[in-house]
Amino acid sequence: MIIERATAGDLEVLLAFRQEAASWLTALGLDQWQRPYPADKLLATIEAGVVFMVRDGSTTAATITLTPDAEDGLWTDEELREESRFVNKLTVARTHAGQDLGGRLLDWAGDQAYRSGAQWLRLDAWTTNKPLQGYYLRHGFEHVRTVVEGGAVNGGPRVSGWLAQRPARQSESHGFVDLTEPMPAS
Ligand SMILES: CC(C)(COP(=O)(O)OP(=O)(O)OC[C@H]1O[C@@H](n2cnc3c(N)ncnc32)[C@H](O)[C@@H]1OP(=O)(O)O)[C@@H](O)C(=O)NCCC(=O)NCCS
Repeated sequence: MIIERATAGDLEVLLAFRQEAASWLTALGLDQWQRPYPADKLLATIEAGVVFMVRDGSTTAATITLTPDAEDGLWTDEELREESRFVNKLTVARTHAGQDLGGRLLDWAGDQAYRSGAQWLRLDAWTTNKPLQGYYLRHGFEHVRTVVEGGAVNGGPRVSGWLAQRPARQSESHGFVDLTEPMPAS
């Protein structure tokens, strides 16, 4: 499998991917990702060069967004003084589930973060999704805190406020053929 930066041509695939994950989550009785992600926002992140695709032949197996930019209102000023990379929208195709592909992508992301001099790999997970939080705890993240207020809709509840981090660390065990350039240091 290879990993490379997404291009604008991946937009439709990424939207379909998100939809597939949302349907799976609904079937599990979870409310995560029920609102479609805005295509213009997604395109902006692709153009910023922070969206990555894992391809298995001609199939998209997974995606991850890895960015130096923190979501507003989640991390304290003190935390933001520590160099970090943030994982967003980690998604594995259902055809490729159960092989720890997400774990390998987190290792790849940690390695990228380490190489760009960051101390932490950080994320915010769906506030009410305990199985997902358990997934990240099993992958070495520690829960920092849960931010409950300041959501996008009228400052209501934060849907994605479960904050976690793990030290950025070198890893060559992710096993992807990496076609990405090194991330620019911020
Ligand atoms: C999170 C994810 C990338 C992990 O991929 P993976 O490494 O291939 O792992 P799997 O999909 O096999 O999931 C491992 C376990 O975690 C559970 N899990 C993973 N994501 C979950 C979620 N969002 N909600 C509930 N359970 C979840 C799976 O059901 C599975 O449980 P099991 O071992 O009891 O079967 C993938 O499950 C996914 O795409 N989830 C939906 C999108 C998502 O929530 N992404 C995280 C955004 S912060």
